[in-house]
Amino acid sequence: MQKLIIALVLGAVSLSASAADVKRGEELAKKYNCASCHGADYNKPIDPSYPKLAGQHADYIAHALMAYKRGGDKANGRSNPIMAGFAKPLTNQDMQDIGAYLHSLPSQLVVSK
Ligand code: HEC
Repeated sequence: MQKLIIALVLGAVSLSASAADVKRGEELAKKYNCASCHGADYNKPIDPSYPKLAGQHADYIAHALMAYKRGGDKANGRSNPIMAGFAKPLTNQDMQDIGAYLHSLPSQLVVSK
């Protein structure tokens, strides 16, 4: 029984260690100056073809960043020369943290009905 409890506690600790960190995501977004294109509050992109990111689903953002890193010539990859450059240095943890941060921001995204 004691071993089981220890195993459960260790499991919980390792899960929390890999959970997304909003604060770290904010620092990364500042470091790479993502807002310089995606706009103030991530709601006012500098060009209509640049997506709004505030409030977007965290897993979608992490998935999109991974796809840019992978590149358009790979399965499930995205090709965009601008974003490829920004996604390249990011680790999986960075992508999760950035996704959590952007998701936490007030959103203007809508679902049309
Ligand atoms: C120089 C301008 C620029 C900068 C800086 C920039 N982006 Fe982008 N981003 C773009 C453009 C343009 C697109 C649309 C690319 C496409 O059509 O696939 C995009 C797309 C994205 C997408 C896909 C959104 C969607 O709805 O599919 C995500 C996520 C993203 N950027 C995150 C970031 C993050 C995080 C950073 C900072 C690390 C960043 N961007 C920095 C220009 C930029």
